[in-house]
Amino acid sequence: MSTVKPKHMLNKQLDALLEGETNRIANLSNASALLFEQLSEINWAGFYLWEDSENELVLGPFQGKVACVRIENGSGVCGTAFKEQKTYLVKDVHEFPGHIACDAASESEIVVPLTKDGIQIGVLDIDAPIKNRFTEEDQEIIEEFASVLLKHL
Ligand code: SME
Repeated sequence: MSTVKPKHMLNKQLDALLEGETNRIANLSNASALLFEQLSEINWAGFYLWEDSENELVLGPFQGKVACVRIENGSGVCGTAFKEQKTYLVKDVHEFPGHIACDAASESEIVVPLTKDGIQIGVLDIDAPIKNRFTEEDQEIIEEFASVLLKHL
């Protein structure tokens, strides 16, 4: 069934964890739990999902502190990554104009858009309590994580 063969251990784990399940909420929930368990030095991992009828991103499954519920297209790191349809690796959130501070502890962040068969589903967002938490290699791993996840949504 799988066309994406994950290279990284985390993503092999994700693929195995989601195998045989197609419920979107269940898979997003387990994906956020896996990230939160396996990645060191992060304080939030989860999803914002695009709501066509409301024309904004709405909080989805996540792990971490309670978070902002609604983000406009183009707002903050999440809304910008969604609008531009590209990954944003933000080494210092205080330097990102319009960053939305849900948890004051967040210092760096990575956001990857999730698009399947041309349909923009939302974004994966991971926050860290230290600056420069995510490297280019992390970006590659997290983008692969997103493509494995998309296969199961
Ligand atoms: N910091 C994000 C908002 C979401 S929280 O980090 C969970 C942003 O600027 O879009």
